[in-house]
Amino acid sequence: MCGIVGVVGNTNATDILIQGLEKLEYRGYDSAGIFVLGGAENHLVKAVGRIAELSAKTAGVEGTTGIGHTRWATHGKPTEDNAHPHRSETERFVLVHNGVIENYLEIKEEYLAGHHFKGQTDTEIAVHLIGKFAEEDGLSVLEAFKKALHIIRGSYAFALVDSQDPEVIYVAKNKSPLLIGLGQDYNMVCSDAMAMIRETNQYMEIHDQELVIVKADSVEVQDYDGNSRERASYTAELDLSDIGKGTYPYYMLKEIDEQPTVMRKLIQAYTDESGQVVVDPAIIKAVQDADRIYILAAGTSYHAGFASKKMLEELTDTPVELGISSEWGYGMPLLSKKPLFIFISQSGETADSRQVLVKANEMGIPSLTVTNVPGSTLSREANHTMLLHAGPEIAVASTKAYTAQIAALAFLAKAVGEANGNAKAQAFDLVHELSIVAQSIESTLSEKETIEAKVRELLETTRNAFYIGRGQDYYVAMEASLKLKEISYIQCEGFAAGELKHGTIALIEEGTPVLALLSDPVLANHTRGNIQEVAARGAKVLTIAEENVAKDTDDIVLTTVHPYLSPISMVVPTQLVAYFATLHRGLDVDKPRNLAKSVTVE
Ligand code: F6R
Repeated sequence: MCGIVGVVGNTNATDILIQGLEKLEYRGYDSAGIFVLGGAENHLVKAVGRIAELSAKTAGVEGTTGIGHTRWATHGKPTEDNAHPHRSETERFVLVHNGVIENYLEIKEEYLAGHHFKGQTDTEIAVHLIGKFAEEDGLSVLEAFKKALHIIRGSYAFALVDSQDPEVIYVAKNKSPLLIGLGQDYNMVCSDAMAMIRETNQYMEIHDQELVIVKADSVEVQDYDGNSRERASYTAELDLSDIGKGTYPYYMLKEIDEQPTVMRKLIQAYTDESGQVVVDPAIIKAVQDADRIYILAAGTSYHAGFASKKMLEELTDTPVELGISSEWGYGMPLLSKKPLFIFISQSGETADSRQVLVKANEMGIPSLTVTNVPGSTLSREANHTMLLHAGPEIAVASTKAYTAQIAALAFLAKAVGEANGNAKAQAFDLVHELSIVAQSIESTLSEKETIEAKVRELLETTRNAFYIGRGQDYYVAMEASLKLKEISYIQCEGFAAGELKHGTIALIEEGTPVLALLSDPVLANHTRGNIQEVAARGAKVLTIAEENVAKDTDDIVLTTVHPYLSPISMVVPTQLVAYFATLHRGLDVDKPRNLAKSVTVE
């Protein structure tokens, strides 16, 4: 989703902005722009499409300070006029913005009569408002910005410059992520540490409703009334090599391949020297104190919640309910007396989940965030955090985060179960079972050529497909179908195998691809019955089965793993199915249309 990068006091400002924007590309965007000042003249450059197109327009653009933006359209189409940065009426003030201003039309009506707007964005209204207060009403830049911040409602991360003053960038945030990066004799601002990691690993957090005055040699944090706030910096653990593609053609393939390593990293992170599972005792107690766990998440993370439900229930003896964050934000169901909310989020920034967390905090409901990003908003604002240790996930389609989420929740379930004396938890040798999972994934990954050939045969020209499974395999089918549709644009549904005949089987016709998942010894035979039903109606079937239930005729056979962990190994061939189907269609695997990696708007 939209990204911001800014730098003050560095003669390479243009390069830093372009490189920073390139690092934000993975988040998804449709246009981009930069404003550079502090050189012989000021430059505003915008382009629709990729950063390469923006970069091609920056010959001769030089300065010491600048702000840049990747835009994912919300208000108005992806055009150069709508691309950020936006300028005030006199073009003196220049602003980039992530988020959504809820009252922008009211502001336009109430304050900006007679102003001329180039595009349709809420951001342009915000910068006109700041410009009006400074130029028409005679306030200082800081006072004008503060006055505007008191009026603007909604989510935002703003970076503002005065084109007459290259010494300072003003930033403010509410509900949208923004960080300060501390350089040697210069400073940066950014919506994602990833865009600054080349320059610095020293960061400073900004909290909601704070305004920061960023100069080359100083960073001053204030609240909107001008009171100073102390803020310490911290060192980020990101490594530049983590965010490179290496020799891989696509991040997605790299991230699929990293999954065995991620399983081993999780073992390291959640065990002590004697191999005992270790989870923060405060988190164990939070689960013990709860009479019901509510998992809130979106998309792939929501599917990881489903895949972990049975394991959590059986090992912690606590019922688990799932909620789609965007639904719960506007309507909480009747909750149990002692709920615990678990937020699963790769990015830790998903606006829908955050909306629920804000409500949970208001209601005094204890919360745990399971995330890949330390210091992310959901991590900071929940009572507890468990990290995924998956390393940065850059491809828009989530792969290693999904498998890491289930594995991390397995550590939680095991730790709580052991503390409660749950017999199943005691018998569940998680470390050993996860090493088998890692080996199983490795052996699937060694079959890429076979999988690619089968995918070519099954999916090369189809417009639609189905995944079916029962029990845990149904949950994997949901995730497998999301993966396939989001990057290959093949319309795909994940179905509970037995449910198909209650209506949807009407869509099966000659040649319709049906991919069946089989891991459970009790349920596999029933799913095989459903396979017969679709095959009899002309479906082309591909079966993915664990060895313990496999037949000679199955297409892809996986090493058997512990049933609680089967979603981790079963999903891997389906990730490869999505990857190859996309590749065969000549599409960009890492950057599917219309999608963003970090969904920071509602
Ligand atoms: C799909 C995908 C999305 C995310 C969803 C939630 O591959 O990645 O469905 O899972 O947008 O994002 P997080 O996990 O960052 O909260």
